[in-house]
Order: sequence, then structure tokens, then C-alpha cells
Amino acid sequence: MENNKRPESMARINTPELAKQFIDEQVAQIRAQVGDKKVLLALSGGVDSSVVAALLIKAIGKQLVCVHVNHGLMRKGESEQVIEVFGKELDANLVYVDATDRFLNLLEGVSDPEKKRKIIGAEFINVFDEEAAKLDGISFLAQGTIYPDILESIKAAESGKPVKSHHNVGGLPDDMAMELVEPVKLLFKDEVRVVGEALGLPHAMVYRQPFPGPGLGVRCLGAITRDRLHALREADAILREEFDLCGLAEKVWQYFIAVPDFKSVGVKDEKRYEGWPAILRAVNTTDAMTATIEEIPYAVLHRITQRITTEVPGINRVVMDLTPKPVGTIEWE
Ligand code: XMP
Repeated sequence: MENNKRPESMARINTPELAKQFIDEQVAQIRAQVGDKKVLLALSGGVDSSVVAALLIKAIGKQLVCVHVNHGLMRKGESEQVIEVFGKELDANLVYVDATDRFLNLLEGVSDPEKKRKIIGAEFINVFDEEAAKLDGISFLAQGTIYPDILESIKAAESGKPVKSHHNVGGLPDDMAMELVEPVKLLFKDEVRVVGEALGLPHAMVYRQPFPGPGLGVRCLGAITRDRLHALREADAILREEFDLCGLAEKVWQYFIAVPDFKSVGVKDEKRYEGWPAILRAVNTTDAMTATIEEIPYAVLHRITQRITTEVPGINRVVMDLTPKPVGTIEWE
């Protein structure tokens, strides 16, 4: 527990120089801990696992095996970016698993949000375990634990409530007996980002908005269908592109599209055109426990609406969710 405590003397890492110093220290520490053994990491493409991957690649190169499971519920271009950055640019030992069909087949006809979450979480562990079992001589498991995770666990332990599990990785075979490598566990999120940039990761990856583990699965409302999931992914990509262009991506904590499982009547090319609505949600928060609505200029909303309704087959309306949390949660499911 002692080495899970951030020393009071530890400076806030907020400059490239401090980040470089941290990286040098961690590289030495990781090499001392790992020696010539192999380390396994579930690389989601999120900020924390990406920074841990880049740090470990710098420290031990191909002794790190990254497993990226594409559950088919990623946003547009995300798995491709993981392959590009880690597989190509950083020349990582990357195992890419396209498990889209496995997940979507299991989710077919399932409309209950909690059931969907359970299926996605359990199947993620199945796929990861299967890949881990194919690898020989793995001694360590790397995780993107950050300091707020540790503080939350301590708080939960003190209050007697069960400790929340922070990671998607769990249920690994007992006989794997892997030791943990958690190089950013004493850092806050803003520091992880500074370290990520100092490691040369793309800005968009390091400043990526939070994305739930079940991914687009909880934004394709009700029972997921492939055509509606495709429409959601395309509409979401347009929203992200437009927010990047007008600078809102830097100002808004989380912004996304949800697509419900019903259609409304519209008209296109003088013909009746039934389509799904795209629900736009953009919120600001500090801890995700409460959230406020970000004001989006009408010109931006008009452009997004215009683009989504003309470029995305199957969507014929764009509506905006103006509900703060409480009473609405951030996600619709
Ligand atoms: P809610 O919808 O509860 O979301 O207001 C608060 C924050 O948590 C994220 N979220 C999840 N993250 N697995 C995750 O890893 C989940 O099942 C999940 N559900 C919600 C949500 O995106 C928001 O940032």
C-alpha cells in the first residue's frame, strides 16, 4: 500500500521537462522490475493504456505484448489509429483481434442495457484470456491504473463498500500468476497526458474524450443492429470532426451521438423517408457525477445537422439532449 501513496514532495508533472524526467525514471524502474521477461497489456486505445504502452515500449521494446481487442463497438477510426501508432510507428509487438462478429452475434436481440454491458464485459475477458493463453512466458501484466483509481479504491475500502474494479481486464487464468506493472499509478489524468505528449503520442489520442468500456454499444440504444450501429458511428465521426474544427473539442468534456431504435417520418427527394433520429449530447463535468450542458452555437448545430442528415444513410433528424445530470445520466443507457 505504501508505494501506492503519492509522496507529498512529488512535483506536479506539467511541463515537457518534468515529463521527460518522469519517463527516464520509469524506464529505469520498469527495466529493473521486468528484466528480460515479457509483459502483457490490454491496449484499448484510451489515454491511460496508450501512455502505459508507449512507456513500456520505450523501456523494454518487444518484450511488451499489446493486445487490442476490437469489439466492433469502437468509434470510427479508433482501432485503425491503434494499429497505425503502435503497430507501425512505434513498431510494437501488437496482437490485433477483430472480434466484431463475436460481440455483435452475442448482442443480437438483447435490449436491456445492463445485459448488454455484462455481455460486452464478459466477452472482452474471454477474448483477452484466449489471446493471453496463446502467448508463452508472460510474467507481468501492465495496467493503466492512475492515481484517482487508487484514491477511489482507498475511499471505498475505508467506507466498507466493495472496491470498484477499474479495469476491463480481469478473470485471467490463476496459473498465469502475473505480477503487475503500473507505471502511471501515481499520476493524475492531466499528468498522464503531459507524459503521453512527451512520449510522442498523437495529441488526439492523448486528449481523447472519455469513452465508456462498452463503447458505442450503450449508444446504439436497445437491441443493436449492424445498420444502425454503422449510422451511429458515421454520425458520431461527423460530430467529432465538426467539434475539432470549431475548437469545441477542447472545451467540451464529452460529446457524442446516440441513436434510438425507432424511426420517424421524413421526406427526401420528394419521397417519404423513414429514418432514425441522431441524438446529440454535449456535457461538461469535473467528476462525471453531475454534468451541465454546453452551449453550442447554432451555426455549428446547423452544420452538423446538415451533414448528418445528408451524409449518413438511415438518419433523417438530429435532435439535441439538453438535460443536465441529474436528472439525465450522461449516457442514455
Ligand atoms: P453516466 O451515464 O453514468 O456516465 O452519467 C458517467 C461517465 O461514465 C461513463 N460510463 C461508463 N464507462 N463503462 C465505462 O467504462 C460503462 O459501462 C459506462 N457507463 C457510463 C460515461 O461515458 C461517462 O463518462
